[in-house]
Amino acid sequence: MTDQASARAASLAHLRQKTLAKGDPVPLPLTMASMFHLPGEPAGFRQYGRFDNPTWEATEEALAVLEDAPCISFPSGMAAISAVFMAVLKAGDRILLPADGYYTTRVFSDRFLKGFGVSVDTRPTRSFADGGFDGYRLVFLETPSNPTLDICDIAGVAAAAKAAGALVVADNTTMTPLGQRPLDLGVDVSVSADTKAINGHSDALFGHVATRDETVLAAVRDWRKLSGAIPGPFEAWQVHRGLETLDVRFERMCASAATIAERLRERGVDTVYPGLDDHPAHNLAKRQMQRFGFLIGLTLRDAATAENFIDGCPLIQPATSFGGVHSSAERRARWGDAVAPGFVRMSIGCEPVEELWAALDAALSASGS
Ligand SMILES: Cc1ncc(COP(=O)(O)O)c(C=O)c1O
Repeated sequence: MTDQASARAASLAHLRQKTLAKGDPVPLPLTMASMFHLPGEPAGFRQYGRFDNPTWEATEEALAVLEDAPCISFPSGMAAISAVFMAVLKAGDRILLPADGYYTTRVFSDRFLKGFGVSVDTRPTRSFADGGFDGYRLVFLETPSNPTLDICDIAGVAAAAKAAGALVVADNTTMTPLGQRPLDLGVDVSVSADTKAINGHSDALFGHVATRDETVLAAVRDWRKLSGAIPGPFEAWQVHRGLETLDVRFERMCASAATIAERLRERGVDTVYPGLDDHPAHNLAKRQMQRFGFLIGLTLRDAATAENFIDGCPLIQPATSFGGVHSSAERRARWGDAVAPGFVRMSIGCEPVEELWAALDAALSASGS
């Protein structure tokens, strides 16, 4: 980690300290309130539960330290992504999405944005800059893409798309701000499904939007207040707690993923991981990522082999979603992703790596791989 990243991580557990009076609880209290004490002039005070909540504010403050930018929290990653779209787009706009990123972003755009008169184009992540960005109001990138872990040049796309007049948005869910820093690479808005590694315990959905652009920030804040797409205080509290251990969890997960990806490759498994030197964009990954992440793609012989591997490994949760303390995996073709039937997206958790590898190795053998 760079000194700056370490400083950010170190400060997370102490952010509340400056606000504490003698006798106050050190951990963040959970404030469940739709109503606030508000006699007389309301300006400058918390007014109503759809506008403000002290638990959201503490979580947003912690996220803002990580992002080095103001953050607005949402009840899920999709609520954060759709808030950016709804806050900035209007009829006649054209947007560009990754053809191979998280599929719900495309489904949302097809199902709702097109109906409002927004045109939607897609391009593969690995050739995302090909064709330029003329005519786009918004360019949305996701790198490494979920699930195939393809990579595009964040700084290159941001510079070209901004020069063409687009707002550039990056979905940084798979990396977190500890692993990759889209805003520092020139992107206007970073969005994240904090449901994944940021919360890290697979017990809450959450999302956030981070931006240094005051106009976008105000529009997204208004969208949340007026649409009512507000996070629950309890989920904000869970995510705040998760954030305090993100650095240790993320470091363990990425280190274990690097070891396991290497061993899978040595074992002859068709493995995709940005940290492997045979990843098509490994050199770019080294330039723009602080860590190579905790997701590994592996392609086994066929669907049955993949299912047997997943179900036969006691240290793998067969589950959709990723980024939890428990390793998990799923065969993505079951959701219709454009991948081979035996393609497995595996999310490495916090289990001790040698125990995890022994279990994976045994499950691969038992599945006939
Ligand atoms: C890359 C990515 N972005 C966004 C989302 C949406 O997050 P949520 O399920 O919290 O709405 C997901 C969910 O899997 C995701 O993988």
